[in-house]
Amino acid sequence: MCYAIPGRLIALKDNIGTVDYYGEERKVLMDDASIQIGDYVYAQGGIVIRKVEVEEAKKIIDAWKEKFFELKDKDKELSQNESTGSLEILQKVNKKKQLSDKELLELLAIKDKDDLSLLYQFANNKRYKEHDNASCVHGIIEFSNYCSQNCWYCGVRANRDIQRYRLSADQIVDTAKDAVDKLGFQAFVLQSGEDLVYDEQKLVEIVKRLKDLGVLVFLSIGLRSKELYQKLYDAGARAVLLRFETSNEDLFAKLRPGTTLKDRLQLISDLTDMGYIIATGFLVGLPGETPQDIINNIRLTCKLNPEMYSFGPLIPTCDTPLAKEEKIDKDLMLKIIAITRLLALDSNILVTTALETLDVQAKKEGLLAGANSLMLNITPQQFKELYTIYDNRVGVTEDLQEEIKKTVELLESLGRAPTDIGLY
Ligand code: 5AD
Ligand code: SF4
Repeated sequence: MCYAIPGRLIALKDNIGTVDYYGEERKVLMDDASIQIGDYVYAQGGIVIRKVEVEEAKKIIDAWKEKFFELKDKDKELSQNESTGSLEILQKVNKKKQLSDKELLELLAIKDKDDLSLLYQFANNKRYKEHDNASCVHGIIEFSNYCSQNCWYCGVRANRDIQRYRLSADQIVDTAKDAVDKLGFQAFVLQSGEDLVYDEQKLVEIVKRLKDLGVLVFLSIGLRSKELYQKLYDAGARAVLLRFETSNEDLFAKLRPGTTLKDRLQLISDLTDMGYIIATGFLVGLPGETPQDIINNIRLTCKLNPEMYSFGPLIPTCDTPLAKEEKIDKDLMLKIIAITRLLALDSNILVTTALETLDVQAKKEGLLAGANSLMLNITPQQFKELYTIYDNRVGVTEDLQEEIKKTVELLESLGRAPTDIGLY
């Protein structure tokens, strides 16, 4: 099984390459000076991660060829509807005009089923026009559920009494190696709480060993020092997932005691300057959050211009200060995905596990409302269940093979192919 189809590097200018997939071209960031025009490569998240031997590449490309064009046709068929119907605001998107906050609030307030479906289909059509049927599936390894922070919403907050675990460097590398060798993963998100036991030395070792596997190393380790992130970049990490959580400073200060929005945004900006690929976004449904806050959140995400957009609903979790909050309406999340697609036509938008936790259909619906990326949890089973970041997380008891099978079936049913989604 393979989560990325290799492509052929057909052009190179400075550090930006063009990779061809069956006649489709995608821009990628080059990260390996030894790769030359004509080489076959794997790219993930818009970055070339390694060269693939010609024979191996040709075998995969041939094996996928027929399927690739079948999938393309299917996606085309499912994403054809570009009608704006009664939603005049959408015509402005076609005319490349800016949408005002008032108009975005109007879209966010849609309740009518037909209008909702129009908005989602329109966003899906934009996704198709920008990305074709490319999709990315990254693996996530939750390597520690220790955290020194006490975010009000979070189920692994320091003050919550839960069974804690840490994976050793060997356990992390073995998990990743298995996922590369047996399952074809090409990119890994290393996620943990803010666990200071993983100091510079430990993290550098882990990143170097993963880098040696020829995969894209994505960090999701929270607010750590700029110096540490620089060391990890030097060791080979190339992407960071760090949500700003909310653009509302007061809400941020209350819900993430001891930290400020300003510091978090500064870190995201520093990481961007270092050359990291950034995935960021926000939580939806924090107490006191207004529709305007949500629009501000979407706008701030767009302003940060990340390579990947990640937003999820708050899942109220027992024994946390937000245990009694109301559950978010799935359509609100789908509207946020669709509106983001309209504001950032070329964005890469993730369907997150929290969204799936809201509703079993949400993964599919998110992909049909403008999203184009997924993550699969490949944490070893006995630890997956302990990463209790929120209640009733989907997939924690499911066998990984079964989950992969279902995800591939879903992607195929929607006509999505695992070529890289490209750099925009
Ligand atoms: N519900 C949904 N998402 C949550 N996160 C933390 N707690 C919850 C929760 N209860 C998200 C935060 C954090 C990411 C790792 O998990 O947005 O950035
Ligand atoms: Fe720790 Fe992150 Fe949870 Fe906050 S959201 S308590 S930093 S794991």
